[in-house]
Amino acid sequence: MKIDGRHYRTIFPDADGRAVLVIDQTRLPFAFDLKRLASLTDAAVAIRTMVVRGAPLIGVTAAYGLALAMAEDASEAGIDRACATLAATRPTAINLRWALDRAAAVLRRAPQADRDELAFAEAARIADEDVASCRAIGEHGAAILADIAARKGGTVNVLTHCNAGWLATVDWGTALAPIYVAHDAGVPVHVYVDETRPRNQGAALTAFELHAHGVPHTVIADNAGGHLMQHGEVDCCIVGSDRTTASGDVCNKIGTYLKALAASDNRVPFYAALPFSTIDWTLEDGVRDIPIEERDAREVTHLTGRTETGAIATVQVVSPGSPVANPAFDVTPARLVTGIITERGVCAASPEGLAGLYPERRRAA
Ligand code: MRU
Repeated sequence: MKIDGRHYRTIFPDADGRAVLVIDQTRLPFAFDLKRLASLTDAAVAIRTMVVRGAPLIGVTAAYGLALAMAEDASEAGIDRACATLAATRPTAINLRWALDRAAAVLRRAPQADRDELAFAEAARIADEDVASCRAIGEHGAAILADIAARKGGTVNVLTHCNAGWLATVDWGTALAPIYVAHDAGVPVHVYVDETRPRNQGAALTAFELHAHGVPHTVIADNAGGHLMQHGEVDCCIVGSDRTTASGDVCNKIGTYLKALAASDNRVPFYAALPFSTIDWTLEDGVRDIPIEERDAREVTHLTGRTETGAIATVQVVSPGSPVANPAFDVTPARLVTGIITERGVCAASPEGLAGLYPERRRAA
């Protein structure tokens, strides 16, 4: 995607090839800064503090983190230590573990002296594949939007939650990729952007992305979606996912489930867009089995934004002394999901639907 006319990926190797640069998402939307990650610790801290976030991007960052660790210690113990450190940063998004397992398997087969170089090459391959997958998700999803536009004879109103755009991946995004592809092809699209408390990834990141690309959009309070659906203002919902089970249960940012309930009640199609690296073939029951990250209470008690003087400030919004809970994700059962948009096409959110698209993975599970 382009910022001020220059094409960026969210993560890319530094000119010297010994570090990676990432877009610091904690500074958006008010500042666009790059941050250099030069060590295993840098990568782990960037994921934990959400300098980088979004399931596919934290997977790719973890792969680069493993590569940075190989420059420090390329022994078997070094691989184990790096994988354990990176895997512990965020528990819900399966892409993180998927990328580490894939890259570590390549390294363990190689002589220790070659691991440093191989690890960077594998991380770059994972990044390139993510771009290709997201672009393909965009093509498949755009066909759905074009179909709605043709049937409706007007602008397609899409509701999305959190940020599943290019900032959450290496490029293009998952849920937003169909919107970019459709918009670029001339399909009239307008996006309702849930603000996505507590961290406001919708208001800060999705709105920033859509504005930068010129896609018409409106930011809404998280509680507004049901009302808009009741009044026929939403033609479909598209969300991303941090982990989707083999049976089609979709785990995504907290609040996604409530949107799926409202969509079901109002017969609004509800899609999840995700690459193969988000599917956890070992799990069936997402509500029971997916670990849900519990984050710092301060994300709920405080808000950060820009004051009228232009300064960035953090203010408390919760009554002092009240206890707070902050589960970061929830699970939408497959029965509420109209379809899953993947790089291989669109399928039903069911064991049969996913197995139909990925016959090789289903047999291996
Ligand atoms: O906590 P975050 O900001 O990493 O959560 C991101 C989401 O929930 C996204 O919807 C998800 O990762 C899909 S990313 C393409």
